Amino acid sequence: MKGIVLAGGLGTRLYPLTYATNKHLLPVYNKPMVFYPINTLVRAGITEILIVTSGPHSGDFISVCKNGKELGVTHLEYAYQERPNGGIADALSLAEDFADGENITVILGDNTTDVDIADSVTKFKKGALIFLKKTADRKQLKRFGVPVFDRNQRIVKIEEKPQEPKSNFVATGLYIYDNQVFDFIRLCKPSERDEIEITDVNNLYIKHRELNWVELQGFWSDAGTFETLYYANRYWAEKEGL
Ligand code: TTP
Repeated sequence: MKGIVLAGGLGTRLYPLTYATNKHLLPVYNKPMVFYPINTLVRAGITEILIVTSGPHSGDFISVCKNGKELGVTHLEYAYQERPNGGIADALSLAEDFADGENITVILGDNTTDVDIADSVTKFKKGALIFLKKTADRKQLKRFGVPVFDRNQRIVKIEEKPQEPKSNFVATGLYIYDNQVFDFIRLCKPSERDEIEITDVNNLYIKHRELNWVELQGFWSDAGTFETLYYANRYWAEKEGL
C-alpha cells in the first residue's frame, strides 16, 4: 500500500494566514499541519508517500518535509497540481504513476486524526473504503459529503454539502482505493464550482457496488477554517499534556 497526501488547494478560508505560506505548513500545536496526515499513514505502516501540492509556496514543503526521514517515511515524492483548486480528485489524478497499479491510501493534508487505520489498511483488497465520522453538528454536515444509507446500512449515494443532510455522518478526507480510481476520475466532469469532486468518484464506486465504509472512532477534524484550526490546535495541545 502506498500513501498520498493531498495538499493542494488555495486555503482561502485561512486568509490572511495563507498569504505568505501554504495552509498545510501552518502550525497545529507543535508541528506543521501536514505532519499529522503523514503520521497517520506512517502509523498504519505506509512509508512510501507522495505529497501533491500547489501554489506559490509549494517549494516550502521540501524545506519542511525534506526526504521524510524524520517522519519515518522511507520514500517521499512530490507532485505539483497546476490548477491549485482543480478539486481533490484532480489532485489525486497526479498520483497515477506513483501508485503504479497498487492500492492507495489517500488523506487530505488538512485532516488530523488520532485514529489508527492500520487494520483497515491491512484488510483492504479492492474497491474503495471511506472513513465516516458521526456528528450531530448540522453546520458541519453541510460543509462535507454526507452519505445516504439504505436499510442495510449500505451507502446508496453521497451528497456533497447537502442543505438537508440525510444522515449524521460526514465523509472524512481519508480514503482507500484500488487502481480503478484513476479511470473513475477520468469519467468525472467538473462540478458547478469547477472542481473534479472526490464525491463523484466515490459515487461511481457506489454505482459499481464497490464502496465500503467504516466509522472513525476517535478524534478527527480538518483544520482548514479558523474554527477547526483552533479546535485541532487545542485538541493536540491538550493531548500532549499542555
Ligand atoms: P478545501 O479545504 O476544500 O479547499 P482549499 O484547501 O482550497 O481551501 P479553501 O476552500 O479555504 O480555499 O480542501 C481540502 C483539502 O483538499 C486541502 O487541504 C488540500 C486538498 N485539495 C487539493 O489537494 N487540491 C484541490 O484542488 C483542493 C480543492 C483541495
